Amino acid sequence: MSDRSFLTEVVTQIGILALASALSFSLYHVGANMYRNFSHPVSRSIKASSCPAADRLSSVWSSLTPHEREIANGLVLPDSIHHSLEDVGGNEDAIQQIRQAVLEPLQYPDLFQSPLDSSDSLSSSVSVLEPSRGILLYGPPGCGKTMLARAIAKESPQVAFLNVKVSSLGDKYYGESQKLVSAVFSLASKLSPCMIFIDEIDSFLRVRQSSDHEASAQCKAEFIACWDGLIALKDVVLVGATNRMSDIDPAALRRFSRKIHVSLPDEKSRNQIIRNILSNIRVEDDFDFAQIAQFTEGFSGSDLLELLRSATQKVIGECIERRNRMRHISQDADPDAAQRIAVRPLATSDVTTSPLYVRKPLPAPGPGSGSTPAGAGEDVSLEQLLSFIFSRFNSPIPPSNPPSNLT
Ligand SMILES: Nc1ncnc2c1ncn2[C@@H]1O[C@H](COP(=O)(O)OP(=O)(O)OP(=O)(O)O)[C@@H](O)[C@H]1O
Ligand SMILES: [Mg+2]
Repeated sequence: MSDRSFLTEVVTQIGILALASALSFSLYHVGANMYRNFSHPVSRSIKASSCPAADRLSSVWSSLTPHEREIANGLVLPDSIHHSLEDVGGNEDAIQQIRQAVLEPLQYPDLFQSPLDSSDSLSSSVSVLEPSRGILLYGPPGCGKTMLARAIAKESPQVAFLNVKVSSLGDKYYGESQKLVSAVFSLASKLSPCMIFIDEIDSFLRVRQSSDHEASAQCKAEFIACWDGLIALKDVVLVGATNRMSDIDPAALRRFSRKIHVSLPDEKSRNQIIRNILSNIRVEDDFDFAQIAQFTEGFSGSDLLELLRSATQKVIGECIERRNRMRHISQDADPDAAQRIAVRPLATSDVTTSPLYVRKPLPAPGPGSGSTPAGAGEDVSLEQLLSFIFSRFNSPIPPSNPPSNLT
């Protein structure tokens, strides 16, 4: 073989090798991308769901940035929510306000657009039809703010419900948090109509202090800037929940144009909540819902849940004890006898003898506290106020005639 043909042979071999490596390299990348796209836990669960929001996420999935994919972990599918607005006891007014402020603008965007809308870019007036872009649910702990927000997602499957955990935005490398913050809004716009829900939002939008880390201040500023950008996005709304409204930065608080108070349940609502909680539990025929509802003034929905949980656990404990005794007695004669002992129905006395069945002091009215509307106090009745004041002085409420304009 001549030197020249040997050289040609070597060059050809090198060319083939280079081509093969380039081909396998691209195949590897295509494969890895496909694997990332289809084996991602979010990708797998949205594929299994047939709701419109999941379909929209599926269709944009391959174009999402890594940060948007991380935020997409928070897409809550309606099938995974096990309670609806009907399960939320009381708070009819809050539910009605949420329907109006959150659901209706997202479900019927055409009705919130004026037929006289002009494309005049110089016109800066905000239309009265313009829906709120920020809605804050506030009120004492355990009264159903989170439950309510999730129930909205169940109510309206065509609206994507993006649950953003504050922990998923903070504690990241420098600059990462800002990218995640802007990913929240860019993903929401890709999934629109979309409701961004941020629980315990006070821990993220806390009043700015001089001791704040620079990264966290930048992150908040980015959040507010992106939020302002929502005005241009007609069908994205931000819903926050807090039990510490006074901790929220005033600049952020101002942007929540609608603040909805989720209050402690009144007697009628407590009765309804108790019935809801016990709906799948056997109770005695004469179980006294009214007595328990009347006694538990000041209890939140979550306090009622704990009270009823402790009472049912006591009844289950009794059953376990009886089964163990039976197992001991009839071990040989009838090995299944213990298993046949069922849990008895819940009685009123199981609840009234619970250590959690104690009167609660009424919440102190105060501006900005989670329990009352900031500065307004309109949810505290005169009767509650008097009862609170007299309980402080440890004396009974005098049978005075309150001024007629206050009754
Ligand atoms: N109004 C209600 N109706 C029925 N159940 C309720 C109600 N409020 C609370 N609960 C029960 O208490 C649980 C806790 O409520 P939830 O987490 O929604 O309260 P929250 O207002 O978000 O409290 P926090 O401010 O501490 O976050 C609910 O999962 C539900 O079981
Ligand atoms: Mg909550």
